[in-house]
Amino acid sequence: MSSNTTNEQPQLLDHDCDGIREYDNPMPFWWSAIFWLTIAFALPYFAYYHLGGVGTSVADGYDTEIGEFYEAQAAKLGDLKGDDATIVQLSTDRKKLLAGQNMFRANCAPCHAPDGGGKTGPNLTDDFYINIRAPKDIFRVVRDGIEAKGMPRWGKRFSDPQIVLLSSYVASLRGTAAASPKEPQGDRIAAWPQAPAAAVTTASAPIAGSE
Ligand code: HEC
Repeated sequence: MSSNTTNEQPQLLDHDCDGIREYDNPMPFWWSAIFWLTIAFALPYFAYYHLGGVGTSVADGYDTEIGEFYEAQAAKLGDLKGDDATIVQLSTDRKKLLAGQNMFRANCAPCHAPDGGGKTGPNLTDDFYINIRAPKDIFRVVRDGIEAKGMPRWGKRFSDPQIVLLSSYVASLRGTAAASPKEPQGDRIAAWPQAPAAAVTTASAPIAGSE
């Protein structure tokens, strides 16, 4: 690429391609400068972020932070038991429910719908359950999954205390009104040992602000 010239008259270049000739019209200096600067910037940028070196991409950074967040949250929760009493009792704790709600919307909504009304997975808002008879069964099903039927094993991803939070949130969904509830599956079961508080209904509270 040629450098800047201040020619007022366009000059014809020497070469001739089947009678087609062209003028020598260099790009303005400022344009070329920006062009070369972008290339100069791209090389170290590429090396920094994409050659497996020091820099992490935004997506990697996000994954790391989410991982650290879940880890910190699990540490704060201490030793929550996946039994009926704990699950029902936590479903009256609004902050814990919000944490469960955020996990649910991020991980369970694709199959159970954001409001729990069900899609490929069963409706979690009605009184009918396939594998659940008591709150502690929610914990067991979520932790161990029912992989043959398409329910993943979340114990691979979440700690036991986190699954307790998820279970409390799922318990609190029972009896709420889903936008398009799936037809009942399984058997009608008795009410939970104590009535849990109504599910949290705030639109999408940031998970980080909920603890
Ligand atoms: C890939 C789809 C999928 C995802 C994601 C998923 N589930 Fe499920 N879930 C299912 C299916 C399918 C069933 C029904 C299993 C059966 O038929 O026994 C189920 C069943 C359940 C049940 C038992 C319902 C019953 O009536 O017995 C609970 C509770 C549940 N899921 C909670 C969750 C939670 C909490 C999450 C997120 C952490 C989640 N699921 C994510 C597909 C999914």
